[in-house]
Amino acid sequence: MTSWWQKAVVYQVYPRSFQDSDGDGIGDLKGIISRLDYLEKLGIDAIWLSPVYKSPNDDNGYDISDYEDIMDEFGTMADMDELIAEGHKRNIKIIMDLVVNHTSDEHAWFVEAKQSKDNPYRDYYVWADPDAEGNPPNDLGSTFSGSAWEYSELTGQYYLHLFSKKQPDLNWENEKVRHAVYDMMNFWIDKGIGGFRMDVIDLVGKKPFEKITGNGPKLHDYLQEMHHATFGGKDLMTVGETWGATPEIAKLYSKPERDELSMVFQFEHSGLDQQPWKDKWDLQDLSIPALKEVFTKWQTELSSEGWNSLFWNNHDLPRIISRWGNDKDYRVESGKMLAILLHLQKGTPYIYQGEEIGMVNYPVESIDEVDDIESINMYNDRLARDYAKEDILKSINAKGRDNARTPMQWDYSENAGFTTGTPWLHVNPNYHEINVKQALEDSNSLFYTYQKLIQLRHDNPIVVWGDFTLVDTADENVFAYYRELDGQKWLVVTNFQAKKTSFELTEEPKSTIIQNYNDKTYQKGQLDLEPYEAVVFEIK
Ligand code: GLC
Repeated sequence: MTSWWQKAVVYQVYPRSFQDSDGDGIGDLKGIISRLDYLEKLGIDAIWLSPVYKSPNDDNGYDISDYEDIMDEFGTMADMDELIAEGHKRNIKIIMDLVVNHTSDEHAWFVEAKQSKDNPYRDYYVWADPDAEGNPPNDLGSTFSGSAWEYSELTGQYYLHLFSKKQPDLNWENEKVRHAVYDMMNFWIDKGIGGFRMDVIDLVGKKPFEKITGNGPKLHDYLQEMHHATFGGKDLMTVGETWGATPEIAKLYSKPERDELSMVFQFEHSGLDQQPWKDKWDLQDLSIPALKEVFTKWQTELSSEGWNSLFWNNHDLPRIISRWGNDKDYRVESGKMLAILLHLQKGTPYIYQGEEIGMVNYPVESIDEVDDIESINMYNDRLARDYAKEDILKSINAKGRDNARTPMQWDYSENAGFTTGTPWLHVNPNYHEINVKQALEDSNSLFYTYQKLIQLRHDNPIVVWGDFTLVDTADENVFAYYRELDGQKWLVVTNFQAKKTSFELTEEPKSTIIQNYNDKTYQKGQLDLEPYEAVVFEIK
C-alpha cells in the first residue's frame, strides 16, 4: 500500500518569522495565508507548522499553555481554520507540531499541579523529594543547560524539566495524561489537518529516576496506543522527532504493520560536525566520506522496511549553505548541489523556510543580539565555566538556533518585506541580494532548482521508490549514487567541495535530468567537475 506522504515534499514554516500581516514585528497566520500562492508555485504538498498554540514563548511556542487555542500574536482560531481551508484549495495539507513531552508552566494543568501534593493534576507531571542534602533527586541535566530539576517552594518538591524550567515534563505513565493528549489530537484531526510532527517524542517513555530519557521501555506501547486512539486509519502523516534513533529504532517507529508513525527525523548526519561524545557546540569539520557512509546506511537499511525523512535544515539547525556549503563564493552553486544530493534520495524531503532561496546564517557579534534560550543558557553556563567568550560566540555563530530563525526575506523593501514594524529578531542585512522577489525573477535561481526537484519527485516513480546504491569515486569528496527502478537507472553526481575535480562516467548517459552548471554538456568518459557541481543523468 502506498501513501500520499511517500510522494510528498513538506515545507516547514516557523510562523514567528515567516510573514507579519499587522505590523507588530511578529509573523502570524494571516501572513502565512497571504503567502500560500508562493508555496503553491514552489509545488509543496504540506506545511509543517511550528507551534501556533497559546504560549508565553519561553521557547518560542514549544512551551504551550493551551493546546486548543492560538497564540495572541499569531491570530485566532478563525484564522487557523482559514489557513487549513485555504491550504486545501491549493492541495497543501497542514501538519501540526505536537509538543506533548512537556507543557508550559503556565498551562492550567501545571498551575493546578503545583498547588498541592494532593491536587488532582499533581500526577500529570513528575515530582520528587529533595535528596538528604536538599539537592535535586539526581544529576539529570536539561538540554538547555543546568539541572533538569526545579524546586517548587509551594510543596517543597522538585519537578522535572528536560528543557527550560518553564517547560515541565508531562508524566506519560499517567493514563489520564495520555488520554487528554489523544483528545486534543482528535480536536485537531477533526479540523481537517494533514497530520502531526511530534516534538521530542522519543522522550515520552522516560524513566527519570533511572536516568533514562530517550527510548524508554514503554515508548512504543504509548505510540501504538496513540495511533489507535487518534490518527490510525485516517490517511494522516506523522513524523517523530527522535534524536537518538538508529536504523533499527527507526524501523520500530515506521514499519506500517507496527501501527506507530509514518517516519521519524533521525539526526545522525546532523551530528557529524560535532566532536564525538561532546555536545552540539563542540565543533569539528565535516568529513564527506562519513556523510556518505551515514546517508548510505539509512538509505539501505530503510529501503524496504520503514521510511526515511530527508532534511538539511529546521528551526533548530544552522543554515545548510553556511554549514556544509559555501556562503561566500558559491552560495547558489553549493545550495543547488545540496538540494539535488538530498532530494533525489528515497524518503520524504523537508524544506525549511528560506532554504529554497538560499538564506544563510546571521553573523552574531554579541550575546545581546541573541534571542534563543538554548544559546543564551549555554553562553552563561560556559562563561561561568571559564570558556573564552570568543569561543562561545564562535559556537553560537556556527550552531545557534537563531541562524534559522531570522525573518524570511521576501523582497528589497525595508525589513525584507517581512514586517512594516520592528522585527522581533534582526533581519539578515543580506536581504538586498537574497530574497524571494529576486529568486522568482531569476530563472537560474535556487528557487527553480527546488521547484524542479519537487516536480521530478511528483512525476517520476524512480525518485520515490527507486533503490539507492552508492558509487565508488576516485575523489572521496565526490558523492555519487544510483537510483534504480524497473529497468530504469539514474545517476546523481555531486562535487562536495569548493575545488574542481573529476569523475569517471562509465556509461553513455541517455539524458541529463537536472544540473547546476547550465551550459555544460556531458558524455561518457572523464567528467571535469566544477566546484560544487551537481548533475543527474538518466543512464537507462
Ligand atoms: C524540539 C524542538 C525545539 C524545542 C524542543 C523542546 O527539539 O524542535 O525547538 O526547543 O524540542 O520543545
